[in-house]
Amino acid sequence: MARKGTAKYRAVPGPSPMSGRRVVVVPRPTPKRFYGHGIPGVDLEKLTGKLVVIEGADGSGRSTQIARLVQWLEGCGHATVQVGLKRSTLVSEELERAKQGNILSHITLSLFYATDFADQLENIILPALKAGFMVLADRYIYTLMVRDLVRGMDEAWLKNVYGIAPVPDAVFYLTVSPEQLVQRNFQKNHTLDYWESGMDVGFSRDMFDSFLQYQSLVEQQFRRLQSTYGFTIVNGERSVEEINAELQERIERVLAGK
Ligand SMILES: Nc1ncnc2c1ncn2[C@@H]1O[C@H](COP(=O)(O)OP(=O)(O)OP(=O)(O)O)[C@@H](O)[C@H]1O
Ligand SMILES: [Mg+2]
Repeated sequence: MARKGTAKYRAVPGPSPMSGRRVVVVPRPTPKRFYGHGIPGVDLEKLTGKLVVIEGADGSGRSTQIARLVQWLEGCGHATVQVGLKRSTLVSEELERAKQGNILSHITLSLFYATDFADQLENIILPALKAGFMVLADRYIYTLMVRDLVRGMDEAWLKNVYGIAPVPDAVFYLTVSPEQLVQRNFQKNHTLDYWESGMDVGFSRDMFDSFLQYQSLVEQQFRRLQSTYGFTIVNGERSVEEINAELQERIERVLAGK
């Protein structure tokens, strides 16, 4: 239960560097809600952990930032759990196979991703939040919605599907220009990803050209959803350290229940 008063955090005794005992900061709980109908039988009051989402395009630096945040949070005594797209043990392999074969219609692929999300939600995100963990999500429902919106799917339908999602405590959207993204992706993988270049949509036969067109449409949709979902836009073109310092500062406020 949250402690009343002016203290930023509720602190419980633990080992301290000065006395051999350290103060472990316990996140201050804040009310949780679902975007829509939610998951039946979930007691929102019991979700005392924090859900922090890092969004951003392919190669925007999400993994780099999350790895540092995990180190920092765990170093401060917070248990963390990571989730992301295509990580559900139930369907991730089948989803990857279906993508390789490019055999699914937009709606079937969309529902496949929704299943991947729902499985992680029920089996990882909600139990971890109930246990007071910091849940770090490498992308969330916004990427899934944006990808589908770019492919012409109905926004109301998507909002209804993802009404099962809990509203995160913070969403950070790393912005990096499409030109920078191309460079980073080439540096990392020596190629561009077929889907992240929107090759299935048919903008251009040239993957580079298609990547630039597709990523700017994705960016436009993100900016459009920003007013509804309130992402915090983080300039991802600075150094890894600068970006991480900003994220840490903002997450400290989340931990303090602000
Ligand atoms: N702030 C930064 N400045 C320059 N390069 C960066 C920065 N952050 C990450 N990179 C580099 O860009 C590449 C992509 O970074 P990273 O893998 O963290 O991105 P990602 O968003 O997780 O990508 P993916 O979508 O492939 O999972 C890596 O080679 C990484 O070293
Ligand atoms: Mg990554």
